[in-house]
Amino acid sequence: MKMSNYHIKHLEEYYQVYRKSIREPESFWEEVAEEHFIWRKKWDNVLSWDFKKPEVKWFEGAKLNITENCIDRHLATRGDKTAILFEPNNPDEPSEHITYKQLYDRVNQFANVLKAQGVGKGDRVCIYVPMIPELAIAVLACARIGAIHSVVFAGFSATALATRINDSDCKLVVTADGSYRGAKSIDLKGIVDDALEKCPCVKNVLVVKRVNTEISMKAGRDQWLQPLLDEASTNCSPEIMDAEAPLFILYTSGSTGQPKGMVHTTAGYMVYTAYTFKNAFQYRENDVYWCTADIGWITGHSYIVYGPLANGATTVLFEGVPSYPDFGRFWQIVQKHKITQFYTAPTAIRALAKQGVEVVEKYDLSSLKVLGSVGEPINEEAWHWYNDVIGKGKSPIIDSWWQTETGGIMITPIPYVTPTKPTYATLPFIGIQPALMDEQGNELKGNQVEGRLCIKFPWPSIARTIWGNHERYRETYFSAYENNYFTGDGALRDEVGYYRITGRVDDVIIVSGHNLGTAPIEDAINEHPAVAESAIVGFPHDIKGSALYGYVTLKETGESRVHDNLRKEINQLISDKIGPIAKLDKIQFTQGLPKTRSGKIMRRILRKIASKDTSNLGDTSTLLNPEVVQDIIDNAL
Ligand code: WTA
Repeated sequence: MKMSNYHIKHLEEYYQVYRKSIREPESFWEEVAEEHFIWRKKWDNVLSWDFKKPEVKWFEGAKLNITENCIDRHLATRGDKTAILFEPNNPDEPSEHITYKQLYDRVNQFANVLKAQGVGKGDRVCIYVPMIPELAIAVLACARIGAIHSVVFAGFSATALATRINDSDCKLVVTADGSYRGAKSIDLKGIVDDALEKCPCVKNVLVVKRVNTEISMKAGRDQWLQPLLDEASTNCSPEIMDAEAPLFILYTSGSTGQPKGMVHTTAGYMVYTAYTFKNAFQYRENDVYWCTADIGWITGHSYIVYGPLANGATTVLFEGVPSYPDFGRFWQIVQKHKITQFYTAPTAIRALAKQGVEVVEKYDLSSLKVLGSVGEPINEEAWHWYNDVIGKGKSPIIDSWWQTETGGIMITPIPYVTPTKPTYATLPFIGIQPALMDEQGNELKGNQVEGRLCIKFPWPSIARTIWGNHERYRETYFSAYENNYFTGDGALRDEVGYYRITGRVDDVIIVSGHNLGTAPIEDAINEHPAVAESAIVGFPHDIKGSALYGYVTLKETGESRVHDNLRKEINQLISDKIGPIAKLDKIQFTQGLPKTRSGKIMRRILRKIASKDTSNLGDTSTLLNPEVVQDIIDNAL
């Protein structure tokens, strides 16, 4: 069954391959690596690991360049196939089809420009570029020459950018004059200039021209990129890298202020992202795949750039936002490019569902075969809307659970293989060994159990360290449960072994001795027809220890509702769905909820407001919508 390992087609085969990947992980991954990638030299050892140190090495001794796998090897058979399909912010601007051959030329030119600026193997390059082709090309150009890319989402503030540049000592920054976001444009270069006041490590800045605004260029440091590219050769032989050489650093926020620079290495990351892409999306040769994430997040790294390109796929890169020029934009793009796989986040699904079905019905979505969700638990109502209104009940939803740290999808249905179940991420992906733990650190065996989600055995794309702080890496992920990677999430396993992610365990609230996850309560509230979105936090309570405080945003229906009646109805729903114990003591109606740039609700802030402690809300500058915070404080109960 060698070849079939790479493409699972039915449930029995999933179980067969899964069992093999658990019993003989080394020979399983060796087979995948051997048959589906090109290597300059094969490995001496498939895997060595020790979760105590912690240390994980896959394919040690192997030599490769990931861009040869993502680009060069496709030239013979797919040279004229579209690799990157760029859809601009403005729907009247033409889309751009970048073929594999053109991608090869452009990556090599960019790589040669980087080299000419003195960037070499192991150097760190910060990429602060909006969702335009140069972002993906810059990433690949770094990989071509063995430089370590650190993409910072081009929506972060100057302070956040400077912290990230300094943490990994980047010597060069790639940016753009500005970026488009719906009807607005943002002065990116100005943000970079501010950040670099505090970044002595940066010697050069390359600037992509996108919005054509007047910007200041610092002599001796800043250069326009295009003239340099025009002069550069389209040949650049790939740097031959060790399997375990760092490929990139990607920052993720921790429970404390300093972001964690997660380090991913080359061979294992490549093998796992490619293999998961193929199977979790059931990717076929002529599909047009679209992930709406930004390349500034792990989802974009693994499932816009590396995973799809390693499979020779066509991957869509969208510059804009779901609401511009109107809320039909996603569906217009699906129709225009006949998208086959569509991968987005629950927060986007909820925002779009709020607009009603009319904006969806204008478009032909019949090309869709697979729908994906990632980033947070998808609530039941959103799941059904996605399934019924977008998928018309015929495109399976893959609710895929994973993390920046895991590099690739860990728990997910395989579409057309695993029967889906609303709000369940269902079964572990091939090679993944989840475990649920109780608070004492004992593994909960069997089904129908709920605990903290750990992973018992290394998979190829696990992050290897935190840049410059291996001790923090050990402490955060490997100290809570001996010999296990701790995810920070809670999960339950149902009667058939399906997993449901219940949310971050730091979101658990203990009310009168009962552990309550926030996600199921929010689910219940969100089922109320007037509710758009909600967030629950705990606040100190004399008798119960903690009580529940709900922040609820209503749909914009235009009709006025009596808030007191709504409060009763919401609590009735919770009471019905979960039990009276989960009823909210306070319900505040808000205009919006504070969100991170990746769409996660910032509960830390809500928790403080609920506890009437607004003296030190921490840095709110990285929020998507900092303006809602004051409004919530002013109307707090
Ligand atoms: C949450 C995103 C429930 C989870 C790839 C995880 C999810 C964190 C899901 C990682 C899902 C992600 N269901 N929760 N399908 N996917 N999460 O690092 O809490 O941005 O730990 O990676 O998002 O977020 P990150």
